[in-house]
Amino acid sequence: MTSITLRPARQDDMRVLTDMLVEAANWNPDRIRPRVTLLAEPAVAHYVRDWQRPGDFGTVAEDDTGTPVGACWFRLFTVTDPGYGFIAPGVPELTLGVAAQWRGQGIGRALLRAAVGQARQAGYARVSLSCERANFATHLYRSEGFVPVESGPDSDTMVRILN
Ligand SMILES: CC(C)(COP(=O)(O)OP(=O)(O)OC[C@H]1O[C@@H](n2cnc3c(N)ncnc32)[C@H](O)[C@@H]1OP(=O)(O)O)[C@@H](O)C(=O)NCCC(=O)NCCS
Repeated sequence: MTSITLRPARQDDMRVLTDMLVEAANWNPDRIRPRVTLLAEPAVAHYVRDWQRPGDFGTVAEDDTGTPVGACWFRLFTVTDPGYGFIAPGVPELTLGVAAQWRGQGIGRALLRAAVGQARQAGYARVSLSCERANFATHLYRSEGFVPVESGPDSDTMVRILN
């Protein structure tokens, strides 16, 4: 079996992060939107725009040829430009995606753990995310210690306390 390596996200990872952002936005196969349409939406594009700004960090998974297959990263948002999972300035918000052909092999959980470890290492007290309740990823997040703190009609904002 191909071995997977995790490494910190770099400045030149814009492409894989954008690919994974599109995967995350298109998690529901019944509601796929074209990449170009998604990336034209400021509320989607701001998860990767101008990567890698100060305060941006994350983890990339690569196969044994060095090809990225997934990513989990954090970004800081503001009151005037909040992410879907924004809870407060200074609380990084998470995005997670694994390329379709690599799912169900533990890569998503490994990426999530590694990126949360980076957040803890960086000294953050908590991190947040937004996830639609119908997405099984919500169970993954719960099993990794994220708890819902706010609920919209279809999605939850979840927080993980780091200590
Ligand atoms: C969510 C996602 C990142 C998970 O990555 P992954 O590598 O497939 O996940 P893992 O293999 O680490 O599995 C994590 C858990 O989810 C479970 N799982 C995996 N695929 C599943 C599926 N299709 N349905 C239900 N549970 C599933 C696994 O069983 C595992 O639980 P376990 O450890 O108790 O067995 C990946 O499916 C993905 O990129 N989805 C599209 C983007 C997305 O939805 N991102 C999150 C937006 S909030």
